[in-house]
Amino acid sequence: MSELLQQQHDNGVLELVLNRPDKKNALTLAMYAGLTEALQSAAGNDQVRAVLLRGEGDSFTAGNDLADFVQCAQRPESMQTILDFLHALVDFPKPLLAAVQGNAVGIGTTLLLHCDHVLVADNLKAQMPFVKLGLVPEGGSSLLLPGMLGQRLAFELLVQGGLITAERACQLGIANQQVAPERLYDQALAAAAAIIALPQQAVIQSKAILRAPQRAALHQVIDEEGQQFAQRLTSPEALAVLNGFLNKSSR
Ligand code: COA
Repeated sequence: MSELLQQQHDNGVLELVLNRPDKKNALTLAMYAGLTEALQSAAGNDQVRAVLLRGEGDSFTAGNDLADFVQCAQRPESMQTILDFLHALVDFPKPLLAAVQGNAVGIGTTLLLHCDHVLVADNLKAQMPFVKLGLVPEGGSSLLLPGMLGQRLAFELLVQGGLITAERACQLGIANQQVAPERLYDQALAAAAAIIALPQQAVIQSKAILRAPQRAALHQVIDEEGQQFAQRLTSPEALAVLNGFLNKSSR
């Protein structure tokens, strides 16, 4: 496990901690691979009853590492590492929680749609700026968000990339709870403790029942979005934005 992704296991809760705070926890391909491996191993580990995703520093995650996006544009097969993580999220059988502060960009927001309980800090700045980057929605969001919110709100968030505050995230059903940033971690552990106090097999079976109607469709949509996303990464529109960001940050 890379230092950029840390694991802490205590009292039945496995914490997966994004630990790249100087880069706002932007996700590299190695971090995705670590997350996938951790979820798959947690699924088969009887000691793990729930998983909590969180990020070190002032942000949950700034989404995909933009330098890695340029690499994916040159080697489209590397996109599979990201898709493997998304499929692992869909298949994860145990309760999955997220504690989210500050920026939650791109996949930092879409992955929340796969979680079972999401806590957001008052300072949440979630956004899915795919189209502004010349890209298209990913992570099954093109299926999940219109289903949750209808076409118009989904368009506003996924195509126009509007900012989602903590209040709005709770109002839209993207998050369950809004808390003060300094209480986020403790409240997340309390939420996990409340869930794992329930009868474990009944929880797992109930999650499977809730997920069943959309499971196959989600896997399919994730792959279809992924194909179009990979094509968009090589488009002049996307490359102009990505190179602009990278040039600015290397200055
Ligand atoms: N990939 C790679 N590096 C990233 C990153 C990303 N997605 N997001 C932030 N970083 C890096 C910045 O380049 C900067 O690095 P540097 O200190 O070496 O220059 C560092 O993280 C801090 O970012 P900065 O932009 O200075 O912080 P901020 O608080 O002003 O803004 C964000 C935070 C998240 C709003 C802004 O960094 C941003 O928009 N990032 C891109 C998000 C994005 O488009 N993700 C992909 C979605 S599909």
